[in-house]
Amino acid sequence: MSRSLIDILDFSVQEIDELINMALDIVKSPEKYSEKCHGKKLATLFFEPSTRTRLSFEAAMYELGGNVIGFSEAQSSSAAKGESVADTAKTVSCYADIIAMRHPKEGAAYVVAKNASVPVINAGDGGHLHPTQTLADLLTIYREKGSLSGFTIGFCGDLKFGRTVHSLIAALSRYSGINVVLISPEELKLPSYIKKDILKEKNIPFAQTTDLEEAMPALDILYMTRVQRERFFNEEDYLRLKDSYILTPEKLMNAKSNLCIMHPLPRVNEISVAIDSDPRACYFKQVLNGKYIRMALILKLLEEAEKDEY
Ligand code: NCD
Repeated sequence: MSRSLIDILDFSVQEIDELINMALDIVKSPEKYSEKCHGKKLATLFFEPSTRTRLSFEAAMYELGGNVIGFSEAQSSSAAKGESVADTAKTVSCYADIIAMRHPKEGAAYVVAKNASVPVINAGDGGHLHPTQTLADLLTIYREKGSLSGFTIGFCGDLKFGRTVHSLIAALSRYSGINVVLISPEELKLPSYIKKDILKEKNIPFAQTTDLEEAMPALDILYMTRVQRERFFNEEDYLRLKDSYILTPEKLMNAKSNLCIMHPLPRVNEISVAIDSDPRACYFKQVLNGKYIRMALILKLLEEAEKDEY
């Protein structure tokens, strides 16, 4: 089994630092990297919708001089005929050097990694984890704040099903001086296993509230999220909860002048477009950082796979 990235905790803090440094070097000198993946193929297996994650993986591989194969919906793959993800993994290992995969079932990426003979990157598994968004988020925080320690971060919206939130909280639990504020409707609170196994276990101070404006003045980073319609059991609940939080310029009146406003995107209604021109808006920077850090990740995993061959 090759080294894969299924959970952000699969990588040590030092490895994440190395990825961040490599991404910063790619930003500075992209030409140094433009042929690094010559002759290599990335397979993007997307069983769920995606714009940024899939296209940033594809752009990343092209900018490294490599090629991309794959599919962007389950219906156009043999999953529609009933093929298991384990068999898909064995098959794609015959064609590609590395796999990036998104699937609606929690744990699917892990099953693929167990069955593939090439590195597998989890590009989102149901309401569970999304480690490469976390790498993009960490690079963004580092570039904006100059450090991954010593700040108060508020997570706002769907903390129950939001996999980007789950992975970022796990990642931040290994840095020092982090305070967490969890802002959500009662029904969409952070799952208790994450509070117990991560926040409490690592002694990370956290508060829970339903009131975004009350939380605002203390925040250095505000991480907004979309209510995850596709994970709801009924449409009525979604419709009732979808507009729980809408960030407008008025709501930022009491915010810090150097607040960093993040969102993994897609945005539905959570951030008014009037905020896009505010210098505190960082969500499109996250998109760009996502490409650079995925370039670094592809390089790292391919290098490790090559070492294993010898
Ligand atoms: C996120 C995801 O897929 O979990 N999107 C992304 O990859 N940037 C967030 C979301 O869909 O709400």
